[in-house]
Amino acid sequence: MATPFDMVLFGGGGDLALRKLIPALYRAHLEGSLAEGCRIFPVCRRQEDADQYLDTAQEALKTHLRDGEYSDSAWQAFSQLLRAVALDIAEPDDRWDQLADILRAEEDRVRLFYLAIPPAVFGPCCENLSLKGLINGQSRVVVEKPLGYNAQTSDEINSKIASYFPEENIFRIDHYLGKETVQNLLALRFSNVLFEHLWDAKSIDHIQISIAETVGLEGRAGFYNETGALRDMVQNHLLQLLCLIAMESPNSMSAKNIRAEKIKVLEALRPLAGNTVDKNIVRGQYVAGGLGTQLVPGYLEELEAASSSTETFVAIRAHIDNWRWAGVPFYLRTGKRMEKRCAEIVIQYKKVSHRVFSPEAGDVLPNRLVIRLQPEESIKLVLMAKKMDSLTMELRPVELNLTLSDTYDTFRSDAYKRLMLDAAANNSALFIHRDEVAAAWAWVDPIIDHWHETNNQPQLYRAGSWGPQAAGDLLEQDGRHWFNAQ
Ligand code: BG6
Repeated sequence: MATPFDMVLFGGGGDLALRKLIPALYRAHLEGSLAEGCRIFPVCRRQEDADQYLDTAQEALKTHLRDGEYSDSAWQAFSQLLRAVALDIAEPDDRWDQLADILRAEEDRVRLFYLAIPPAVFGPCCENLSLKGLINGQSRVVVEKPLGYNAQTSDEINSKIASYFPEENIFRIDHYLGKETVQNLLALRFSNVLFEHLWDAKSIDHIQISIAETVGLEGRAGFYNETGALRDMVQNHLLQLLCLIAMESPNSMSAKNIRAEKIKVLEALRPLAGNTVDKNIVRGQYVAGGLGTQLVPGYLEELEAASSSTETFVAIRAHIDNWRWAGVPFYLRTGKRMEKRCAEIVIQYKKVSHRVFSPEAGDVLPNRLVIRLQPEESIKLVLMAKKMDSLTMELRPVELNLTLSDTYDTFRSDAYKRLMLDAAANNSALFIHRDEVAAAWAWVDPIIDHWHETNNQPQLYRAGSWGPQAAGDLLEQDGRHWFNAQ
């Protein structure tokens, strides 16, 4: 039975809050996961914005919810939970005291402080929370990437938060971990003897993890140009997915046990530094092209800059140097303005050890497990089977569909909703520990250092394609190819 909590949403009028967090809370309310009495305090900087917040939030819901999710009556009920407040995060004036008084009316409640604000103001925000007595014994802080720019800046940010909140009360979100199929990956691996016994270098040829996006800069030019695809997507989302695929079975699904296994994977990642960076990583940047029938500008035009060496695409050949994965390449790839929006994990099995069929039977293709996170969530196993009605033994690949959405209504599945409810319930299994952040940066930093030292420039690719030619070559050198979503 859910218990009511209070959430203070710093950056309540910002892009993340309006696009993702308010819709997630609305969905939680709609499905009855917010206990009666929950209070949500979106924080705006200006009083006018706080006064108009309900209109702003309603508009955001109409824009960002899926078809059929919005209704006036549900909004009326949900809006009762919202009480926008105006605060200057850095200024400990009496408006903080007023908020403290309101919260104190429910002193024993869980309090979630969601920092949907730039990391530069995490410090002052936490300091004022502490100074003004808002942190009770049940307070948790929720933060999200970008948690720094490299190992050092990330450590500084984490240390600042740690001065006010103990590690167990810090919930670092990676929203990919809240996606339903990602959790299903754990179920698939650890509740089916079938897969876990075929989950290593003996059976698997290689693994591909791709997150392809069709969007470009989405109004975040300044941030993105400082960041690039490696920091924006690989350091966090792709490495987290890699960890869940590659980790050993944790002793239990507790946050502590899962984290221990993930860290082992990150530490076993073969370092890429110096020359090995160029051999194993392809960087790209999109130029103008077409997405379907739509013509889209190139990165530099969107950025309104004459030049930039920021990568909007990266493809990596990675290795995990441990007993289970020796010799199995993990190909990671992500990019903006790609042909299709698709996030997919492909587990490519090895070929059968001996062919027993005649040449007329056709190719005996290796099995493939395809876990798709979006746009739709699905799990498919590609098997070889006899072609139906064929009089001879003709083989062809067929798909065994393990998709649970056919069985369950996943209409309202929402990663942020799941993670916020988990934070409220003090379940940190799907959150990132500080040590994981540090281990991920330790792998990423030398790559970026090498690019800087060698003044590496990204290779160009056409918007609406699958990235630079060199990314295809990276796999071709190994006698393999990317599985591009159809
Ligand atoms: C964010 C990145 O973490 O993830 C964005 O900063 C990216 O650049 C986004 O677009 C992708 O998330 P999703 O859930 O839309 O695949």
